[in-house]
Amino acid sequence: MHLLTEGAITFEVDGSFYNPRMRLNRDIGVAMARALRLVQYVDALSASGIRGLRAAKEANVQEVTLNDVSPRACELIRRNSARNGLACEVTCSNANVLLHERHFQAVDLDPFGSPSPYLSSASRSARSYLFVTATDTAPLCGAHLCSGVRKYMARPLRTDYHREMGARILLGLAARELARLDKAMQPMLTHVTDHYVRTYLRVVEGAKAADKCLEKLGYVEHCQGCGSFVLLFEPRPEGTCCHCHGKTTLAGPLWLGKIQEADVICRALENLDSSARARRLLEMCAAEVDVPMYYDHHSICERLNITPGRIDDVVEALCKSGYKSSRTHFCGLGIKTSAPLKVVEDATRGA
Ligand SMILES: C[S@@+](CC[C@H](N)C(=O)[O-])C[C@H]1O[C@@H](n2cnc3c(N)ncnc32)[C@H](O)[C@@H]1O
Ligand SMILES: [Zn+2]
Repeated sequence: MHLLTEGAITFEVDGSFYNPRMRLNRDIGVAMARALRLVQYVDALSASGIRGLRAAKEANVQEVTLNDVSPRACELIRRNSARNGLACEVTCSNANVLLHERHFQAVDLDPFGSPSPYLSSASRSARSYLFVTATDTAPLCGAHLCSGVRKYMARPLRTDYHREMGARILLGLAARELARLDKAMQPMLTHVTDHYVRTYLRVVEGAKAADKCLEKLGYVEHCQGCGSFVLLFEPRPEGTCCHCHGKTTLAGPLWLGKIQEADVICRALENLDSSARARRLLEMCAAEVDVPMYYDHHSICERLNITPGRIDDVVEALCKSGYKSSRTHFCGLGIKTSAPLKVVEDATRGA
């Protein structure tokens, strides 16, 4: 039998699914579980159980439930739990059945592809927290329009900021699913890494809170000609770009509210075991300004036909001019700013 180690867990995989490239995702999951002092947690789609076993052992979560629809995976999870001296509950249900029947403090969805088929039951089940991974970045980020509309009831658009577009389309669906149940969400940490979106949501009960949450849904009106975009809270028919007067296209509905909570991310950082990449990622997320989407430094330089200068100089110049601006974890060349494209172009020329 072939044994693997991840974090404090030694486990077998035995034909079930295990993706070592998701380790960073799980490392951050452990840090968040510690920061939030979770006491009850379910991984509704567990495979080998590694995610929940790490939560139990490394974050000391007292009640961990590991669920998988596959009886073979459940046998494996039982063995992995026992091997690590843990007494996790193992259930062999369809995730939707389990989540409709029971409530958990924290619900984690980490499926193959889209979490959309499980978001309704997970929203019902989650008392305080909902954590979601989506690996279907093509429909989320605008490469597959029809499946984006089917899975997320939103129109995605391929843009320079497609990674953040994907995250906000997923968040938009989560906000609507929770609102149907008189619940609101507060995103604490959202990151797009490799080819997946991951978000950690606090769930708050109440019709008023849900109404307020829905007010943060909106649209992006994007110009493919010059890359300029504006945020809208009401959709309108195809408009005209205020920068180049070209035709614009609408994406959404999507979440335009906050996606990072620096306090929580800093607590996660304090609770993160040595992982330089995860640390860098969390530091960048915590430092991002609360401004949806970003401009791509190289795209701007290309359109202006100039050699790119230092991106940090552009960000600094924008800050000095009084605009909220920062770099972003979504893209090494991204500039988040409250400044209009015209001002960003001037700052880019000056850099
Ligand atoms: C991507 S893997 C989970 C990976 C795991 N969370 C981790 O961190 O390693 C998805 C798992 O979901 C299970 N699955 C698929 N459909 C399911 C369903 N409807 N209900 C419960 N489990 C399901 C599969 O058997 C598979 O083991
Ligand atoms: Zn334009």
